[in-house]
Amino acid sequence: MRKNIVAGNWKMNTTVPEGVNLAKEVNDAVAAAKGLKCDVVIGVPFTHLTAVKAVIDINKVGLAAENCANHVKGAYTGEVSAPMVASTGANYVILGHSERREYFNETNEMLKEKVDLALENGLKVIFCCGESLELREAGNYADFIKAEISESLFHLTAEQMADIVIAYEPIWAIGTGKTATSDQAQEVHTMIRALIAEKYGDKVADDMTILYGGSCKPSNAPELFAKPDIDGGLIGGASLKAADFMGIVTAF
Ligand code: 13P
Repeated sequence: MRKNIVAGNWKMNTTVPEGVNLAKEVNDAVAAAKGLKCDVVIGVPFTHLTAVKAVIDINKVGLAAENCANHVKGAYTGEVSAPMVASTGANYVILGHSERREYFNETNEMLKEKVDLALENGLKVIFCCGESLELREAGNYADFIKAEISESLFHLTAEQMADIVIAYEPIWAIGTGKTATSDQAQEVHTMIRALIAEKYGDKVADDMTILYGGSCKPSNAPELFAKPDIDGGLIGGASLKAADFMGIVTAF
């Protein structure tokens, strides 16, 4: 049985004290909530990981870094490695976000290396994919998404795939207020699950958690999460307020 997950991606927001307060609020709200039907994860800046880890119950609220390096260690000034992330007590890492791909030139090949290092260091991966508006309008988004997934993930074993969560985030829906309709998201999620089934068989595909991300908020989450192949969300803006984030967490 696959898990439902609602994960926050704080991006480059909050100072450490602000982030610690937000994490405490989320942790308390999750601890107080009864019968939650999803796991909750917060993705925070590198600088926040240790301080946030100290104020959350990791069994209730998972902790993600927003990136890691494609090298283990050495002369890579400013980079943060997967072993460093793991040593903070974080248990997830978000990889391949479209902002990293676009602004920091991350390629499918680099992401393959990052995925391997994350898994080797015991981190679960929230692997992002999704097309630009241009590709959506040209109608060839499916091939693009298939390449993102297959080129960075399909060297993994079926066992390793159990530690992968896929997040479909159409770039045109990120931070724009323009959510994909639940039918548009469901169509891509079905396509992704079929792709995984083709490579790894039905069991791995059925067990794969596939999140939707892009202008997800408490008002549209129930309709999105009601779709059979949408197993939760990766939340940007609305994860920065505990009440909004919890409004999405409780949408199942
Ligand atoms: P928004 O929810 O702000 O649109 O961001 C989505 C996202 O990029 C999550 O990774």
